[in-house]
Amino acid sequence: MLQSCTGSHYVTGEFSGSDMVIPLSSFQTEKKGEASFKKYVIAHHDKLQYLICVYRLSADNFRALLMRCTHQGTELQVFGDRLQCPAHGSEFSTTGSVQNGPAETSLRAFPVTIENENLKINLL
Ligand code: FES
Repeated sequence: MLQSCTGSHYVTGEFSGSDMVIPLSSFQTEKKGEASFKKYVIAHHDKLQYLICVYRLSADNFRALLMRCTHQGTELQVFGDRLQCPAHGSEFSTTGSVQNGPAETSLRAFPVTIENENLKINLL
C-alpha cells in the first residue's frame, strides 16, 4: 500500500528494448496555480514484478530505484524523501542508500538518461 495522496504519482512506462521510457512531463504539476515538479513518480508496467520509484533530484539528475527491499524482498512504500519497508522497518534515501536497517545493502538503481522529452530507464 502507498500513501493515500500518491494517485497522481503513478505513471505507466513504455518498453523500448531494455529501456523503460516515461515522459518528463510526468513530473510536472501545479502548486497554488504555479508550475512545479513532483519529487518523484512511481513507474509501473505489467512486465515488471516491482515498481520503480524515480526521484527528480534536479532538472537533469534523476534516480530510478527498484522498490524491492534488500532485506527480504518486500515491496517498499514511498514517504516523500524516503522509501520504507512495511515488513521490518528498513528505510532508504532518495539515492537508495540504507538509512535504517535491518537491510544492509542499497536499493538496486538503474541508469537514467534524458532523451528529448523522455526519461529512459535502463533495466539491464
Ligand atoms: S523485508 Fe524489508 S526490512 Fe525486512
